[in-house]
Amino acid sequence: MAAQSVLEVIRRVEETPLQDLVAVDITDVEVQMDHLLGREITADSLYRRWETQQWAVSELDFAQDKKDWAALGEGLQLAYRRTMTLFFIGEQAVTDTLSPLLFAAPREDERVFLATQIADEARHTVFFQRFFGEVLGLEGGLTAALEAVRPRTVAGFRKIFNEHLAGAVDLVRREPRNEAAWVEGVVTYHLVIEGYLALAGQHALLTQFRKVGILPGFTAGFTAVARDESRHIGFGVMALRRRVTEDPEMARVITRKLHELLEPAVYTGVAPDRRLAIEDPTEVPPLFRVNPLEAREFAIGQLTKRVRAIGISPAAVDEVGAAMRALYERGWDEYEHNHGVRHPVRWYQDGSLN
Ligand SMILES: [Fe+2]
Ligand SMILES: [Fe+2]
Repeated sequence: MAAQSVLEVIRRVEETPLQDLVAVDITDVEVQMDHLLGREITADSLYRRWETQQWAVSELDFAQDKKDWAALGEGLQLAYRRTMTLFFIGEQAVTDTLSPLLFAAPREDERVFLATQIADEARHTVFFQRFFGEVLGLEGGLTAALEAVRPRTVAGFRKIFNEHLAGAVDLVRREPRNEAAWVEGVVTYHLVIEGYLALAGQHALLTQFRKVGILPGFTAGFTAVARDESRHIGFGVMALRRRVTEDPEMARVITRKLHELLEPAVYTGVAPDRRLAIEDPTEVPPLFRVNPLEAREFAIGQLTKRVRAIGISPAAVDEVGAAMRALYERGWDEYEHNHGVRHPVRWYQDGSLN
């Protein structure tokens, strides 16, 4: 992309109001996200973007979404509902766990930015609650809705959220002056949960819905969520880069924590413990098909580019990528071992689908 058109894309993503976001492609939001990894980005400039990028869940219109949802087959409904459920619970979990990171952030510009992020995460939770209520028919208020969807997670997800995230922020709460603990909290929260899991999931859903032309209310709202996430992830990268610049030892703290998180993170997406909604990918309508090999490379590319932007050595970044690739392979093998069926990725590996 020429420099001029990159700037044009960034400007459009940053300035488009909610009602027009349905027409903004997720790949354009990703171009803007990459721009936020630059060294000129500060907590103040991210705060200023927050002021101008406000949006309201109550302004979304889900009328067409209800019709589109009803027209999806059962298999696709189940597959989408599962991914959306992980987002719903994930948004609630990050809303509830960010305050210790705010409290312990040593710098005022960081505390100001994190205060805006807490408001964003609350809005994302409300967005999913409204979509689940109005489109998927899950009524009963926020707490009841969460209780209803909570058992429907997978082992990797529970490990990341209930053990790693909860443990990391609890240590920050108990030891607010422990700088390594804060860094580990940001690695878990901003780098892995937001910069890998959320990015991969949002890319998959938004690419599909735009391509097929369905769920316009969800697409508009979730694109606004993605733009919010671009600020959050940009902040995490900026904060970690600051620590590495001040103290090179922090690079080791970051890579050690990352390697601890890679298995449950990859397994949240691959989920070898749960059978897929549609196991034979040739039964998925062509327009709805996702190539798992492409999805893997996209997700690994997103995380490693952020680790690189923090200032981690190229060799250490390559190690992260290689470890992740091996974990996907292991996850697919385990899926076949657990359920005694072929994983859909094999159709793509042997060239019968592409
Ligand atoms: Fe969020
Ligand atoms: Fe976020």
